[in-house]
Amino acid sequence: MADNLICGIDIGSSKIATIAGMKSEETGELKIIGFNATVARGIRKGLIVDIKEVTEVVEESVEKAERMSGHKINNAFVSVGGPHISSLNSHGIVAVANPQGEISEEDVTRVLEAARAISLSSTRQIIEVIPRDYIVDGQPGIKSPIGMSGVRLEVETHIITASSTNLKNIDRVLDDLGIENQGFVFSGLSSAEAVLTNTEKELGVVLVDIGGGKIDIAIFVDGSLSYSSSIPIGARHITNDIAVGLRVSLDSAEKIKLYLSKNLDANKKKPPQINLNELNLEENVTEVSLKTLVDGIIAPRLEEIFKLIFEEIEKSEFGQQVPSGLVITGGGALTVGMLESGKRVVGLPIRIGVPDKVTGLIDETSDPQYSSTQGLLLYGLKNIMTNTGDGFKNFGRILKDFKLGNSLGNLKNFFKQFIP
Ligand SMILES: Nc1ncnc2c1ncn2[C@@H]1O[C@H](COP(=O)(O)OP(=O)(O)OP(=O)(O)O)[C@@H](O)[C@H]1O
Ligand SMILES: [Mg+2]
Repeated sequence: MADNLICGIDIGSSKIATIAGMKSEETGELKIIGFNATVARGIRKGLIVDIKEVTEVVEESVEKAERMSGHKINNAFVSVGGPHISSLNSHGIVAVANPQGEISEEDVTRVLEAARAISLSSTRQIIEVIPRDYIVDGQPGIKSPIGMSGVRLEVETHIITASSTNLKNIDRVLDDLGIENQGFVFSGLSSAEAVLTNTEKELGVVLVDIGGGKIDIAIFVDGSLSYSSSIPIGARHITNDIAVGLRVSLDSAEKIKLYLSKNLDANKKKPPQINLNELNLEENVTEVSLKTLVDGIIAPRLEEIFKLIFEEIEKSEFGQQVPSGLVITGGGALTVGMLESGKRVVGLPIRIGVPDKVTGLIDETSDPQYSSTQGLLLYGLKNIMTNTGDGFKNFGRILKDFKLGNSLGNLKNFFKQFIP
């Protein structure tokens, strides 16, 4: 039974969340059986700045999720994001080993290896190599070349790299707690797994995860991830602005921000004043003008955020290929005025992405702030399962073999060759 357990640890700037899911043998459905989110300490903009604090919080979160699920968490997929993430698209080309025969798994492995042979500084590490398109004898648009005949195999890949120092620090935290890292997952990609539909990915879409300390961006074109990046600004900046603007503490500002998003109905006429009596703020602020708060403080920051997102889309050069527009998720997605600002600045369709592709503890986790947390399980499910049919059972052993050799990135690529 425990063979079907998949776990994820989502290391965010605001919270560290642990999730455990069980894959049903019969239906293939993923059911969340353990979950915990603990307020983060020692993380800034996705980077570990205090390893001791992070270890304490991860330990607390993992223990609570273990207790809830009744299972020990021995290994997990781990999210990583923030401005130390960067991406590039790389091309690989090889001659098919047996030109008379079929393209084999081995040819695919070799062409992916050729694509990942990029020059990389010693401070960076590849965390993801995603095949976007295979080309056989000059014919593009092939999703799975194994079994086809041809003499020349090419691949277009998307490669995500991260700061190796940060990855090493995360590994130290996990090592200390005796948890095996099954692979780093870019948090923008794991959120995408949780909230995007296949149609959106096929048509072209921009996933935006607005966390507390950073915004992760993942752009899909023709069904494949084609651009990944992260902006060092997050929803915490909105809280800061409210604190400065209303001269209240950060705690009070956070309460006001959450109160607004829970109590303002976008479809109803907004009242001129908002009553904050029930928040019992330490500063004794009981009423504020909604115009000051929403139009004067929050909207300008949202506008700035969307301008930065727009610049990233321009930078990606995929701006003309994303008719599905923006899907906004992460805790910050619920900020009041988000959709209006986004529509105005970016001029593309926009919706809020709520993770809802799993069963089990959905009351606790079906919230935009847990998109990347849930996404780790969906990512894990895809990457553990191989077409050998016994992926779960062999995974632990294969993982060990690989750990002796090269980085975990290789392991994920090893599995990815089997995924159409
Ligand atoms: N209902 C809500 N309305 C407005 N803001 C919210 C709401 N819920 C959460 N937030 C904000 O979302 C932020 C936290 O989001 P999230 O949990 O996605 O961040 P994180 O994953 O910990 O951080 P990061 O991804 O940046 O490292 C906080 O700034 C919080 O104030
Ligand atoms: Mg996050």
